[in-house]
Amino acid sequence: MAEIKKLEKNNTYLKVLWSDGEESKFNYLWLRDNCPTAHDKDSNHRMFNILNVSKEINPKNYNINKEGKLEIEWSEGNHTSYFDLNWLRDNCYTIKNKKKYISPYKLWDSSLKDDFNSICVEHDEIMESTDGLIKWLELLHHTGIAIVKNAPIKEKSGFTVLNRISHTRETFFKTPFEVINIPKPNNSAYTAHALRNHMDLPWFENPPGYQFLHCLINSAEGGESSAVDGFAVAEYLKHNNNEIFNTLTEVYLKFRDKDYTQENHRGFHAPAIGLTKDNDYHDIRFSVATMDALDCHPDIMDKVYKAHHEFGNLLHSDKFQINFRMEPGDIFSFNNRRVLHGRTAFDPNSGHRHLQGYYMDRDEIIGRLNLSLIHISEPTRPERIADAVVWVKKK
Ligand code: OGA
Ligand code: ZN
Repeated sequence: MAEIKKLEKNNTYLKVLWSDGEESKFNYLWLRDNCPTAHDKDSNHRMFNILNVSKEINPKNYNINKEGKLEIEWSEGNHTSYFDLNWLRDNCYTIKNKKKYISPYKLWDSSLKDDFNSICVEHDEIMESTDGLIKWLELLHHTGIAIVKNAPIKEKSGFTVLNRISHTRETFFKTPFEVINIPKPNNSAYTAHALRNHMDLPWFENPPGYQFLHCLINSAEGGESSAVDGFAVAEYLKHNNNEIFNTLTEVYLKFRDKDYTQENHRGFHAPAIGLTKDNDYHDIRFSVATMDALDCHPDIMDKVYKAHHEFGNLLHSDKFQINFRMEPGDIFSFNNRRVLHGRTAFDPNSGHRHLQGYYMDRDEIIGRLNLSLIHISEPTRPERIADAVVWVKKK
């Protein structure tokens, strides 16, 4: 329960001294813009328009009223705002900005293989309980990888469990896409060849955030899966080879797709390692198969290629990569913009192999996790809120 000890009017902000000693500065335009009456109760959209008041708006009168609210009578517009103190405290940007950023990501290397069970979650647990759903979502968001075990092996049955989270992301590969060995394929995944670790569709401006490979049949020889945490490799480079790290975060690479079935040649420039405003990892772009002829400046081409080479080798090294075999009923789920995936070649004459693939945007995973966690009681909830953009935790 937030309590205020003292209020002080300043030039552009109201200074609040809280009873626990914390201090906040609430800007007048910010306060007016966030008056509780500003939003429509259904859409939750702001109906009030700050452009309709002057930049000089300030409190004519202010006090803590009998109901314990901060009451502000504004200098213009004939309006009084009543702020709930808990809301003010929860949304206080002075306090938020003093907190240390804590990454939501748990980085991993090949030792994850010794603890493989920790990333497995039972299909029925997800279907039948919120805890099961949250367990899956937390693995996806924090660790970037999860194996759903014992899912049905009927075609397209992946939709049922995926729709526990949200709708899927459509692409021209269709949903689900069929990962089988076919003649004249438009993607190397639809062969029996080995696939080196890669992300799918890096040539989109917004590549699919998550990928779900649902194993229906895996009786051919070979076809073992691999995965690597691209964020962990990036972190390793940051500490062990800062020059390469800087090249990978600063230089825009080029990716493209122009398979023979397309009437649309998609392409996009992005660095191999993308960072957030807090300098945390945002995404990784790595795919040997779909990197285009690079067009960076001739003075840096050599260092760019050498950085790409080093990064690629680490992304396949025993230090970081895990290997496992998918069983029918497994759904290999991962953050497609963090965890790279691959497989060894398989022998199509020795048996059959059939996966069905689905994509989903990252907003759907993070949004569903945020909503699910609202129903979880304090005190663990604040630490588990998923918003990857500003994820702060009390010290
Ligand atoms: C894919 C892919 C891996 C596999 O379809 O994008 O990488 O195990 N498949 O077949
Ligand atoms: Zn793939």
